[in-house]
Amino acid sequence: MYNAGKIITGLVIFVVIFTLPLWWQVGKAAPPAPKPELPKTAKVCVEDTAYMRTSHMQLLNDWRNAVVRDQDRVYVGKDGKKYSMSLTNDCMACHNDKKKFCDQCHNYLAVAPYCWDCHLTPEQVKESK
Ligand code: HEC
Ligand code: HEC
Ligand code: HEC
Repeated sequence: MYNAGKIITGLVIFVVIFTLPLWWQVGKAAPPAPKPELPKTAKVCVEDTAYMRTSHMQLLNDWRNAVVRDQDRVYVGKDGKKYSMSLTNDCMACHNDKKKFCDQCHNYLAVAPYCWDCHLTPEQVKESK
C-alpha cells in the first residue's frame, strides 16, 4: 500500500537535500550594493556622473596638484561653471555627509582614503567653530 504521508515527507527531504547547496548561498550572497546619498541641494556634479564615478580620485589629485604646486584654485567645469578646487569647501559643500556618501562606496570596496587625516569634514568644521 502506498503511504501518501511518507512519500510526501520523503519528497520534501529529497528536495531539501538536493537544493542544499543553493540554501547555503542565501546567507552568503554579496552585500547589497552601496547607495551613496546624493545631495538635495544640487542636480549636477562638477563633471558628469559617469566620469565622477570612475575618476573622482584622479580629479582630486589634479586639484591638489593645481592648488599646492601652482596656487591655482579655480576649476572650470565642462559647462564653463567655475569651482573652487577644495575637498572640504567644494566637494563636501554638496556631498556634506561623508558617512552617507563617500564611505558608502569606500567601505563596500574596502578602500580608506587617508585624506581626512588632515582635511576636515563639514561636520568637523562646524564643531571647530
Ligand atoms: C555643486 C554640488 C556638487 C559639487 C561641488 C560636487 N558634487 Fe559630486 N555630485 C553632485 C550631484 C548632484 C551628483 C549626482 C548627479 C546625478 O544625479 O547624476 C554628484 C555625483 C557624484 C559622484 C557619483 C555618485 C554616484 O552615485 O555614482 C561622485 C563620486 C562625486 N559626485 C564626487 C564628487 C567629488 C569628489 C567632488 C569634488 C571634486 C564633487 N563630487 C563635487 C553634486 C556635487
Ligand atoms: C559611487 C561610489 C563612490 C563614491 C560615492 C565615492 N567614491 Fe571615492 N572611490 C570609489 C572607487 C571605486 C575608488 C577606487 C578604489 C580602488 O582604486 O580600488 C575610490 C577611490 C577614492 C580615492 C583614492 C583612494 C586610494 O587609496 O586610491 C579618493 C581620494 C576618493 N575615492 C575620494 C572620494 C571622496 C572625497 C568622496 C566623497 C566626496 C568619494 N570618494 C566618494 C568610489 C566612490
Ligand atoms: C598630511 C596632511 C594631508 C593629507 C593626508 C591630505 N592632504 Fe590634501 N592638502 C593638505 C594641505 C596642507 C593642503 C594645502 C591647503 C591649502 O593650501 O589650501 C592640501 C590641499 C589639498 C587640495 C586643494 C585645497 C583644498 O582645500 O582641498 C585638495 C583637493 C586635496 N588636498 C586633496 C586631498 C586628497 C584627495 C587627499 C587624500 C587622497 C589628501 N588631500 C590628503 C594636506 C593633506
